[in-house]
Amino acid sequence: MKYKIFKNKEQASKYVSDLIVKSITQKPNLNLGLATGSTPILTYDFLTQAFENENVDFKNVKTFNLDEYKDLKIENKNSYHFFMNKYLFSKVNININNTFFPKSNFNYDEFIQKNGGIDLQILGIGQNGHIGFNEPGSKKNSKTRIVDLTKSTIKANAKHFQDESEVPIQAYSMGLETIFKAKKIILLAFGNSKKEIIKELKKIDEFSENIPASILYEHKDVTIILDEEANSDL
Ligand code: F6R
Repeated sequence: MKYKIFKNKEQASKYVSDLIVKSITQKPNLNLGLATGSTPILTYDFLTQAFENENVDFKNVKTFNLDEYKDLKIENKNSYHFFMNKYLFSKVNININNTFFPKSNFNYDEFIQKNGGIDLQILGIGQNGHIGFNEPGSKKNSKTRIVDLTKSTIKANAKHFQDESEVPIQAYSMGLETIFKAKKIILLAFGNSKKEIIKELKKIDEFSENIPASILYEHKDVTIILDEEANSDL
């Protein structure tokens, strides 16, 4: 697991956007795994700029989002469908029919593999170590499924809702095994609020159910991208 530390989240996000652009240039039909949340927004802004200025072509790219709230309509402004449309899909020439999310009655894992698997997976990390919505206690071999969100995740995500009581208590999430199958993984963590979990992640060197992100230790191509604030060594 490699760490790359950047002075700030702007520089870090530009690096990640450049990497995605390079991957699309090398493989125009890239299968790209995407995250929502505050962390990747700047990366999506840089990708939009790259589309406008560098002619990067999303026409044949397929995207696979990590998760979606259960019991929220996809039109709801807090849904992850809405988020992706707002920050990326409506701004680039992606074919919306090539953008996928986990949902009910859909064998997402099989679907991803039938499409050739994820080439590059972008991840954020929760303050409790979750990736996707694989909360502490998630099994290493977990598949895409409905998960119960923990109190801390509901609290952390409440900032996007008018009231904490409006945050859905369940979500569809890729499993740890699903994420692990991606060929290349980039995890982003920015800001002081992620410092503690990054410190915890560095302390252990094997998978622990208490910190789901620790599954990444066993993967052969993972880069953790931090800004200085999230870097626990400072
Ligand atoms: C979102 C996701 C989550 C977030 C994590 C961090 O699709 O899978 O694991 O990446 O909760 O969220 P932010 O970036 O808002 O701190």
